[in-house]
Amino acid sequence: MGKQEFVIRRTASVEERVDAIQAAFDERGMTPKLSVDELRHLAEEEWPANGARVVAKAWVDPQFRARLLADGAKAVAELGVPMPKHHRHLVVLENDPRVQNVICCTLCSCTAFTLIGLPPDWYKDLEYRSRVVRESRTVLREMGLDLPAEVEIRVWDTTADTRYMVLPERPPGTDGWSEEQLAGIVTRDSLIGVARLQEP
Ligand SMILES: [Fe+2]
Repeated sequence: MGKQEFVIRRTASVEERVDAIQAAFDERGMTPKLSVDELRHLAEEEWPANGARVVAKAWVDPQFRARLLADGAKAVAELGVPMPKHHRHLVVLENDPRVQNVICCTLCSCTAFTLIGLPPDWYKDLEYRSRVVRESRTVLREMGLDLPAEVEIRVWDTTADTRYMVLPERPPGTDGWSEEQLAGIVTRDSLIGVARLQEP
């Protein structure tokens, strides 16, 4: 048996890899820093604000609310909210005192991200994805939403081409508020369905 030769290749450090990618961008005159900042702004500010705006509009305009429940993607387009082409359907799930809708993606981490923002870490966690389906009441309680037994919990599993958004109930004490004020109290968690909005 011949002598075996082992070649040990050192894996480049994260810093070296980042530098290499940066150099490749520089060579091509591209500015990834700008795109990353833009994406972060979209993901953290603009997208969740879209969902809040849609909810506020639905609260004050019953006709819009009806259109939103009938065809979500078409209705949000009226407000100029973009949805990627591959999100073919937007199903808006209306909560009421007896029904709490909750969304998840049991396979990975899909959301209607242009309305909800990028999914929070817990949403991507296997723990949430599997348990929210089997023991939704317990999971919601652990997340701070302790629902009375008479409230039915409906869990919706996102697919590649059907995205969901929860339409939370308008909290009491907000009569006469402007759409902008109302949008200001809508939280990401309420759009996912793991929280209800409290009286301000
Ligand atoms: Fe997914």
